[in-house]
Amino acid sequence: MAKSGQHGGNVLQMAERYGLAPDSILDFSANINPLGMPASLKQAIVDNLTLAEHYPDIDYQRLHAALARHIGCSPRAVLAGNGATELIFALTHYLRPKKAMLPVPGFAEYRRALERESCDIVNYTLHEADDYQPTAALLDALTPDLDCLFLCTPNNPTGQQPPQALLLQILDRCRELQITLIVDESFIDFLPGQTGLTASLNDYPNLFILRSLTKFFAIPGLRLGYLLSSDMQAIDTMRDQREPWTINAFAALAGETVLDDRGYIQQTHHWLQAEQEYLYQALSQFSELKVWRPAANYIFIRNQQTELNLQDELLRHHLLIRHCANYPGLSDQHYRVAIKSHENNQQLVAALKQVFGHG
Ligand SMILES: Cc1ncc(COP(=O)(O)O)c(C=O)c1O
Repeated sequence: MAKSGQHGGNVLQMAERYGLAPDSILDFSANINPLGMPASLKQAIVDNLTLAEHYPDIDYQRLHAALARHIGCSPRAVLAGNGATELIFALTHYLRPKKAMLPVPGFAEYRRALERESCDIVNYTLHEADDYQPTAALLDALTPDLDCLFLCTPNNPTGQQPPQALLLQILDRCRELQITLIVDESFIDFLPGQTGLTASLNDYPNLFILRSLTKFFAIPGLRLGYLLSSDMQAIDTMRDQREPWTINAFAALAGETVLDDRGYIQQTHHWLQAEQEYLYQALSQFSELKVWRPAANYIFIRNQQTELNLQDELLRHHLLIRHCANYPGLSDQHYRVAIKSHENNQQLVAALKQVFGHG
């Protein structure tokens, strides 16, 4: 499968395919904070343009110190990367697992990274009847021959956050069976007050946490993510193995700037609190749709009007949503929509009314 077909945000390709001007398309397919990047970061970049004339610090000491301060851990427990994506590949390469478990549906890059290491992949199917949430049955599915398990919390594309108590049970069971647990918390910042599994880092050296700044701080083009673990030897080895300067100077500056921007963080939580509820309720009004209550900034839906291709129909209205047909475990009736500004969300609802012939 071509990489271009595996993610949202392919506005250019979709515009070309449908003969539309890219600028005329409203993108609901990538889950990016609609507030745009923080003004504090824009200013910092403008004030520091000459950073481009120098190599970044090869150890990114200030960046790692800022990330460690944010989490409340040692800088040695943090490895920053060129987006969480770089770290998914770096970690998988470091672990070289022979057998890994992936819940399906889930984010595509875990599979690509594991396949690159010729790893056997065991799919763990998440069921609609469980709202695509893992249950205690996962504890029994874990076996000692597994080297690692990936979890995504909240999960992409389903937008579901597993209960913390179950996550802790899974973590325990993984430690017991010597399975490395990789938890992708790339969207956790959208859940106010949630710290994910960071409090367990010290007690579980088999735990690796992935985080991304690209979604919450709206910098997917700048790119920044980080990996956390109390297995310092693993972090040191990955730090030594990596190619130099994978994080550009402005991305490093972003990490040093945005985590302290309380105003932006609060504004984002404010926006999401209102729009998450608005769009969830508005979509739920359509009997043609099955809608899952979102934990983060995107909503997972199933179109029950099977003869309609919802992505095609909405593109006629210049709205691009993410179809999920290429996720193992899902079908061409599943879609994911980003939660955007109130005006944009209203546009989506209005377009859906036309598509489904309401009023
Ligand atoms: C669950 C999940 N993890 C990781 C990533 C990669 O994030 P980044 O932009 O930091 O590489 C994405 C991007 O869509 C994602 O959805």
